[in-house]
Amino acid sequence: MLGYYKIITYGCQMNVHESEKIAGLLKAMGYEDCPAEGSADVIVFNTCCIRDTAERRALGNIGVVKAEKKRNPSLILAVVGCMPQQDGAAENIRQRYPYVDIILGTRNISRLPEEINKIISSRESKRRGDKRYRAVDTRLPDEYLSIDENTPTLRTSYPNAWINIIYGCNNFCTYCIVPYVRGREISRSMPNVLDEVRRAVDMGYKEITLLGQNVNSYGNDMPGGEVNFAKLLHEIDKIEGKFRVRFMTSHPKDLTEEVMDEMAASNKICSNLHLPIQSGSDKVLKDMNRRYDRERYLYLVSALRSRMPDIGLTTDIMVGFPTETEEDFLCTLDIVERVRFSNAFTFIYSPRKGTPAAQMEQIPYAVKQERISRLIKAQNRITKELSDGYTGKTYEVLCEDTAPKFEGMVCGRTDSGRLVTFDGGPSDIGKFINVKITASRSASLFGSREDI
Ligand code: SAH
Ligand code: SF4
Ligand code: F3S
Repeated sequence: MLGYYKIITYGCQMNVHESEKIAGLLKAMGYEDCPAEGSADVIVFNTCCIRDTAERRALGNIGVVKAEKKRNPSLILAVVGCMPQQDGAAENIRQRYPYVDIILGTRNISRLPEEINKIISSRESKRRGDKRYRAVDTRLPDEYLSIDENTPTLRTSYPNAWINIIYGCNNFCTYCIVPYVRGREISRSMPNVLDEVRRAVDMGYKEITLLGQNVNSYGNDMPGGEVNFAKLLHEIDKIEGKFRVRFMTSHPKDLTEEVMDEMAASNKICSNLHLPIQSGSDKVLKDMNRRYDRERYLYLVSALRSRMPDIGLTTDIMVGFPTETEEDFLCTLDIVERVRFSNAFTFIYSPRKGTPAAQMEQIPYAVKQERISRLIKAQNRITKELSDGYTGKTYEVLCEDTAPKFEGMVCGRTDSGRLVTFDGGPSDIGKFINVKITASRSASLFGSREDI
């Protein structure tokens, strides 16, 4: 064994999955996952910059590691992912945190082993008087260097397997940093994706979650126009075995009738969709460059519900976009009441350097805070009302984990994506269990199993 590694992950599922690949790379080098109380030889911060809070949290924790590096000078510290990929950010990190050894952007992560080896050998030669080697690589090439098809993956979220289908984003929503830090869309080949799904199912994974900033544009960058997301879903559905399929994220402008048809026709693809709305105001949606309006969004909701009456719909909503007035915000509250999402992830708009919205006149933070608390209150009420409707019914639940707060209990999800806590133990993880819902508490459902 070469030593221990620790990976600290911020941000979205894409990053969680990329950390599984970082773990795979480090393990292949001979490093092992660091036990909770142990001290690591390699620490990797896999960062996010979607909002100011995400950046500040990562920078604060990188600061904390300075003391650890003092105690253990051979520690190798790497900062990778979205944060250093921003314009000028890598240089900034390099100067402000001189004890950081390796800085890699989103498309260079697979170079981590090579850079670790260079650091180790440069330390040996430094004893002979050479200058210390530090690695910085944030090139953003068109071809995806980072996650090549051969990168080993050390999956950490059994019974779910994350599988990336498309990298990057072409949409340039005016508030969003992702297209700048993740580059243009590149789809993985369909045979490679299908092969990875098959292998995960053969290994016993019971849920496959397909990942992409916009899964609906899968295949758009491929020549011939024969491959698209609906076809991919169709092929995945044909793979033998009992497993569930979810995917995220779907952009409302690109969700097609074909995809909705595939979802409805399949037993494997869950009746569950995350469909970020961002705002209920047509003017704000336009200023955000979202390229759909309320009417289109409401149409999609009714088209989905007419095909799948029990579909669980979740969303992302942002308040405090620069051009959002009180009236616009009321449109958001109105659409939340109309759609009745089973859950909503709510965010306060955070200006991101280099994006068009950051140049607009901003609205006071107090206004944003007041809006988000009204929004959260409305959504919590709806979530609770919907939860109450589950009571007394039986659902098939895929047991995911032991329940963190309740001894002798486990938790899992219904097909529609609702979290259920019920009696059980670690041996239930990965099993499909029928559970009768007996009580609900805001977003959580409680039940008793029907298999005993
Ligand atoms: N690709 C996905 C989501 C990417 S980021 C999509 O298109 O929906 C996840 C969520 O973060 C977004 O849906 C949005 O609600 C939020 N977000 C993105 N940029 C933000 C910003 N500058 N400030 C606050 N929230 C932001
Ligand atoms: Fe950001 Fe919009 Fe791309 Fe989503 S679709 S990652 S919100 S630019
Ligand atoms: Fe954050 Fe990058 Fe994901 S900015 S949300 S980790 S794509």
